[in-house]
Amino acid sequence: MAYRRMLDPDDAWRTILDIAAVERGAADVPPPIVRQAPDWTLTVSGSEFRVEPPISPETDLLLALYIPYCTTLRRGFVVGHLGQSLDGRIATRDGASRWVTGAADIAHNHRMRALSDAVVIGAATLLHDDPQLTVRCCTGRNPVRVVIDSNRTLADGYRVFRDGAAPSLVFVAADKAGEGERLGAAEIVPLPRRGETIAPRDILAELARRGLARIFVEGGGVTVSRFLVADCLDRLQITVSPLIIGSGRPSITLPEIADLQQGLRPKMRRFDLGEDIMFECLLHE
Ligand SMILES: NC(=O)c1ccc[n+]([C@@H]2O[C@H](COP(=O)([O-])OP(=O)(O)OC[C@H]3O[C@@H](n4cnc5c(N)ncnc54)[C@H](OP(=O)(O)O)[C@@H]3O)[C@@H](O)[C@H]2O)c1
Repeated sequence: MAYRRMLDPDDAWRTILDIAAVERGAADVPPPIVRQAPDWTLTVSGSEFRVEPPISPETDLLLALYIPYCTTLRRGFVVGHLGQSLDGRIATRDGASRWVTGAADIAHNHRMRALSDAVVIGAATLLHDDPQLTVRCCTGRNPVRVVIDSNRTLADGYRVFRDGAAPSLVFVAADKAGEGERLGAAEIVPLPRRGETIAPRDILAELARRGLARIFVEGGGVTVSRFLVADCLDRLQITVSPLIIGSGRPSITLPEIADLQQGLRPKMRRFDLGEDIMFECLLHE
């Protein structure tokens, strides 16, 4: 029998990006999507897929994890992600968070950035980490970078305001800025202040107005929690690392409940990411 080269992780990732780009503009009920190379065939229908010849567990994980973001969620999604310790911390009290989770979860974050139009973080994450928010662990386009800083506390020296790697937006409360102001290379976008905060729905509406529909909320805990409370997440990805910090900044924090019946028990998918386990909560079908 002739040897057939199976679809490998690099092929799978390239094919995922290709399907994401094509399906974005596809009709409502896409027919089965077929991608073929001389040696392999991938058939995708909704979030299901079939590959000939059989693939490795690593390739299977990539397809299982990311295909739904290209097909069933192709028109847009809002996904929150946090990497936390076994005891539910995302950083020490002083903000040290490198690294709570391992290399596989970091690579996953980069893949989510590549599948997204915009990546959103809170002001405290920028302050502590000065992240680039670009795609470096895989191929793919850099998303628009969005920082929420309602009280306009941030200086202009951070990398996302300087490096020109992708457009950057800073969302501030309308009482802190007028239209057309800038912070380094970033555009300052005033949004209504609702109580103490800016409403996640206003943030998403402004991003949608700019054609940005696939949104990855990358942290920290305060920011992701606000999107969750506002019922603005389609998926919540929590990667749990076998680490006990014992103190520090919390992962999800929601208003208190009286009994466990009121807790959220969403449908889940689980993925092994190296030593870590990612729980993906399906909040909106
Ligand atoms: N392990 C992980 O997955 C992970 C991921 C990201 C970050 N981190 C770490 O987590 C820490 C930061 O997380 P954090 O939970 O303390 O803070 P955060 O979510 O990064 O930032 C919170 C701040 O962002 C602004 N903000 C966010 N959403 C807002 C909204 N809807 N309206 C108004 N303002 C909003 C507020 O700033 P103002 O109060 O100034 O208005 C708020 O205080 C850092 O140490 C970072 O290293 C860990």
